[in-house]
Amino acid sequence: MKKQCVLVSGGAGYIGSHTAVELIGAGFDVVIVDNLSNSDRNAVEGVRRITGVEVPFVEADCCDRAAFRKVFEQYEFDSVIHFAASKAVGESVLEPMKYYRNNLTSFMNVIDLMREFGRQNIVFSSSCTVYGEPEKQPVTERTPRKPAESPYGNTKTMCEDILRDSLKAYDGLKGIALRYFNPIGAHPSALIGELPRGVPQNLIPYITQTAAGIRECLSVFGDDYPTPDGSCIRDYIDVVDLARAHVAAIRRMIDGKNKEKYEIFNIGTGRGVSVLELVHRFEEANGVKINYKIVGRRAGDIIAIWADPTLANTELGWKAERSLDETLRAAWAWEKHLRNL
Ligand code: NAD
Ligand code: WQD
Repeated sequence: MKKQCVLVSGGAGYIGSHTAVELIGAGFDVVIVDNLSNSDRNAVEGVRRITGVEVPFVEADCCDRAAFRKVFEQYEFDSVIHFAASKAVGESVLEPMKYYRNNLTSFMNVIDLMREFGRQNIVFSSSCTVYGEPEKQPVTERTPRKPAESPYGNTKTMCEDILRDSLKAYDGLKGIALRYFNPIGAHPSALIGELPRGVPQNLIPYITQTAAGIRECLSVFGDDYPTPDGSCIRDYIDVVDLARAHVAAIRRMIDGKNKEKYEIFNIGTGRGVSVLELVHRFEEANGVKINYKIVGRRAGDIIAIWADPTLANTELGWKAERSLDETLRAAWAWEKHLRNL
């Protein structure tokens, strides 16, 4: 039987590189396209080393229609997983046009080119950010979306709508939006992981850099929230588990098991963990101390959110499997690999 091929846009990035590894492990061929705007070639090398497969890599911008069309001309894939996007929430507030241009244009190009070349299945990287501050926990896929707090978040809502409307209108295309909760951790080989640029905005890279001595002290943003220990609660999902959810989503469409042309799944663990709990679990799992202090709340933070992943469990046959300790050990192993510690 002919091997199925998947185009992974943004495949040199954090989640894309882990997904490429899991796809190859599951027997798919993979082509990576990335403009390296927030990643580097080492990630592609990491994917090749882990899998032993010389994965094709095209350096191209998905916003550049002519360059992107060449990828469709050159490779025969039926499915696309579209990770390529800019993702820094704070930067999106300062530079909204960069976010609207990059995230919307690249996505519309994917849909147009898939139609032009008759390619069928698309997975879109969405986010729990579309739920805003939910009224009730845990959130299901039927929890209403809220107006976005940032241009970045708005691009996720807008791309979901673009996908929904396109799938309704165009025959031959089906799609799944995966709403990720908070992806953390790294591949157990420590050959690929998250590569934040400059001062990390996200919690785990800040913790690992503090443990590595690159940052002096972690600021915990607020301990006066209405939560058991006063710090915010999130659903931290291991990046390898998250990567496997993409494999399950692609399989579902290839096997014709999708119930609708457009489906949405929450990808989380179902477990809410506070910032302070996460810091202490990291310390215990890795036997290191994190220098931290409590500071004021960060503007725009929501108090708490965690997933109800039942739909993904039952329909995709996917479940988060890695323990939080395993994930936190992998995050630290990756930081040590990066810093030669
Ligand atoms: P990342 O920045 O590590 O990966 C994105 C990759 O896309 C990068 O390698 C970047 O160089 C590339 N890229 C960006 N614009 C491009 C373009 N126009 N053409 C080609 N390549 C382009 O980010 P990530 O954390 O791996 O996120 C992947 C996707 O998941 C994004 O769409 C992001 O919005 C979404 N997401 C991420 C999180 C998270 O917390 N990491 C949560 C929810 C959703
Ligand atoms: C987690 C918790 C912070 C840093 C963001 C995006 C979201 C999604 C994932 C893509 C919060 C606290 C953090 C620090 C801290 N991305 N924190 N000190 O804010 O849940 O989500 O990334 O779609 O859209 O908004 O993740 O890792 O930034 O923060 O105390 O130095 O850690 O206040 O409670 P967040 P995060």
